[in-house]
Amino acid sequence: MVVDNKAVITYVQIQKEDLAVFRIVPKEGDVPQYKSGQFITLGTHVPSENKIIRRAYSIASHPENRKYVELYIRWVRKPLPGRLTTQLFSAKEGDEIIWVKPTGAFTIEEKKPNGEPDNRRIVCLGGGTGLAPFVSYAQHLHDTGSNREIVVLHGASYVDELGYRDLLTKMEEESLDRGKNKWNFRYRASISRPQEWFNRSWNGQKGRVETFLQSKDGESSPLEKLVGEKITIDNTVFFICGWQGTIDGCMDVLTPKGFVTERNKRPDKSFEIKYESYG
Ligand SMILES: Cc1cc2nc3c(=O)[nH]c(=O)nc-3n(C[C@H](O)[C@H](O)[C@H](O)COP(=O)(O)OP(=O)(O)OC[C@H]3O[C@@H](n4cnc5c(N)ncnc54)[C@H](O)[C@@H]3O)c2cc1C
Ligand SMILES: NC(=O)c1ccc[n+]([C@@H]2O[C@H](COP(=O)([O-])OP(=O)(O)OC[C@H]3O[C@@H](n4cnc5c(N)ncnc54)[C@H](OP(=O)(O)O)[C@@H]3O)[C@@H](O)[C@H]2O)c1
Repeated sequence: MVVDNKAVITYVQIQKEDLAVFRIVPKEGDVPQYKSGQFITLGTHVPSENKIIRRAYSIASHPENRKYVELYIRWVRKPLPGRLTTQLFSAKEGDEIIWVKPTGAFTIEEKKPNGEPDNRRIVCLGGGTGLAPFVSYAQHLHDTGSNREIVVLHGASYVDELGYRDLLTKMEEESLDRGKNKWNFRYRASISRPQEWFNRSWNGQKGRVETFLQSKDGESSPLEKLVGEKITIDNTVFFICGWQGTIDGCMDVLTPKGFVTERNKRPDKSFEIKYESYG
């Protein structure tokens, strides 16, 4: 049975008209326990339907942060205004919202199925708000003193949709300063509409986020150039989040290289890809 709880929206940072970071704090009791990569369900009463509408949102904050739960949310407006997000984007700090306890299996595996520690590089590909779980992964590994390599790749249509860019850039700078043996983190972004005037300042990776995996004429892919070696099932695990098209675009490259998903794991239960999508 679904148990609804109440929280207060304590902070809203509007990134642009239809994109924002929200923080919620339970009205009673502590911030719930969760693992990086899990989602929380938010609910609001929708008067026109006279019922509570509940939707899942990946948690962008990390479990070590006991102050609030942070979410990175797009206001869905087409073809019709989304029911929950339309209410959320007209909410004020101090308003109440319903939440259901975090759950989900989009979490980092610390061990391989044979029980050995899994020390392979973690590569995260997030399309749009699909970045949210990876902000949590990065902060979690950072705050627990892990030196497991993690690469966060974010794809957005416009430069002003590169949420968490400052935080992730600072985390990469810290990795360069302290050394990879202490904190091993990389962040890169890609802009999928580089020809548009608004994106004229962009001189980084162009195309959707999956272009980081693609190689031309047998050359190394942008990801391989970044990490300095060929990506194989023995050195890398992938986490992908966003539109189903983003998942499919990544799978088109990774499947021929022998990577398999958790959902299609091998008889020995091994796999190298976890993904989560809305579509
Ligand atoms: C595990 C998980 C994690 C997620 N994490 C995030 C996250 O971190 N951030 C985020 O922004 N989103 C996330 N989502 C998506 C989120 O759960 C919602 O689906 C999204 O916010 C839309 O909810 P809504 O109630 O506003 O829209 P809905 O009312 O559910 O509408 C959904 C779509 O249907 C269309 N629609 C609605 N009614 C009709 C109709 N009558 N006819 C035709 N079309 C219609 C709307 O225009 C919209 O495109 C996640 C989803 C999952 C499953
Ligand atoms: N845990 C989860 O399951 C989870 C968490 C967060 C978000 N999500 C979901 O992730 C999706 C991202 O939404 P958003 O509004 O943040 O994204 P968005 O800003 O519309 O798009 C982000 C990037 O994805 C590309 N893209 C758009 N549609 C695509 C498609 N069909 N196939 C491949 N790439 C596509 C865009 O490229 P163009 O510029 O070319 O359009 C852009 O580069 C939503 O479906 C959201 O609900 C899921």
